[in-house]
Order: sequence, then C-alpha cells, then structure tokens
Amino acid sequence: MLAPRAPSEQRTRAGIPITFRQLTAEDLPEVMALERQVQSHPWRQSSFEDCLGGRQRCWLAKHQGQLLGFMVVSWAGGEAELLNIAVRPASQGQGVGRCLLRAAIELAQSQAQILFLEVRVSNRKALELYYQEDFFEVGIRRDYYPGTNGREDALVLARQL
Ligand SMILES: CC(C)(COP(=O)(O)OP(=O)(O)OC[C@H]1O[C@@H](n2cnc3c(N)ncnc32)[C@H](O)[C@@H]1OP(=O)(O)O)[C@@H](O)C(=O)NCCC(=O)NCCS
Repeated sequence: MLAPRAPSEQRTRAGIPITFRQLTAEDLPEVMALERQVQSHPWRQSSFEDCLGGRQRCWLAKHQGQLLGFMVVSWAGGEAELLNIAVRPASQGQGVGRCLLRAAIELAQSQAQILFLEVRVSNRKALELYYQEDFFEVGIRRDYYPGTNGREDALVLARQL
C-alpha cells in the first residue's frame, strides 16, 4: 500500500504554523505520555505500534520541533475513520485541534469518500469542533466507552469528503 503524503502545513488562528509527520518507533514514549495526560482511558502502546505500518497511520503535529498533538486515521474500501485525536493540555484552546482535524480530513480525502469517528456523548469540546467542521450524527453506540461511573455512549459522526 502506498503511504499517503503528509498533510499540508496548517496555521492556527494566531498564525502559528503546524507541520505534520508520521509517527516513528522513537516517538512512542512522548506520544504515550501525551495520550495519558489527556485521556481518562488511554490507548495501550500496542495501538500506536499498529500505526507503524498497514492501513492505520498516526501523524504528529509539530511546531518548532515540539509535539503539540497527534491524530490517527485508518482507511479501507473508500471509508476512513479518525481513531484518535489529541492536543497536549498546554496547547489546547489555541486552534491546534482544528488544524489536526483539517489535516485528518485532507489525508482521508486522498483515500476515501467518507470519514467516520466516534466520540463520547459528554465530550462537548470535541463535539463542538466536529460539528463546526461539517460532521453530522449518524448513530449512537450504547455503553461503548468505559467511564468512571459505569459505561458511556458513543456518538458516531460522519463527514463527506
Ligand atoms: C478535543 C481536542 C482535540 C480539541 O483540541 P483544541 O486544540 O483544544 O481545540 P481548538 O483550540 O482547535 O478548538 C476548536 C473548537 O473546539 C471547541 N472548543 C475548544 N475548547 C473548548 C472549550 N473549552 N469548551 C467548548 N468548546 C471548546 C470550540 O468550538 C473551538 O472552536 P473556536 O474556539 O474556534 O470557536 C482537545 O481538547 C483534546 O485533546 N482533548 C482530549 C482528547 C479528546 O477528547 N479527543 C477527542 C476524542 S473523540
């Protein structure tokens, strides 16, 4: 399979340039540390290792060599899925998440006709971002996520590419 090209450079609303490159094995400790900082139920390292080849890829968002965030996209049969997206706490609320999402959309556009994702129903911040970027609700998965008090539903969103 041909690896897709790196998404184009994006700029946050303050004009900060964000560049993208693919995850390598050397990045795993830093990416795991970020994942643990922002997720109540973080991915295991093996899930990131799955991004080192095959139809699932992790792209890092960088500014002046610093890791600001990452996103993971998979694709098959004309459909793509955004499996993970995260911004380090110190850089949240500055437009980096939107840059990552737009980069994921650009990447998916070269591989698929539709992009899906799942999101916790309580994740208002992420939902707001997704709706602003033209995602729409296509379903709900009951008790999909582990939570602190029992399980939590996932909304399934999609965006035409
Ligand atoms: C969700 C996440 C990726 C967003 O990244 P971010 O860099 O903070 O987001 P941005 O600054 O690009 O903001 C984009 C939009 O999100 C929404 N948003 C951001 N912060 C918000 C907040 N505190 N409250 C409500 N909405 C918020 C706004 O609509 C914002 O757009 P606007 O401010 O331009 O109107 C980031 O918060 C994160 O890493 N969260 C933890 C991991 C996670 O939940 N991932 C999603 C899994 S589905």
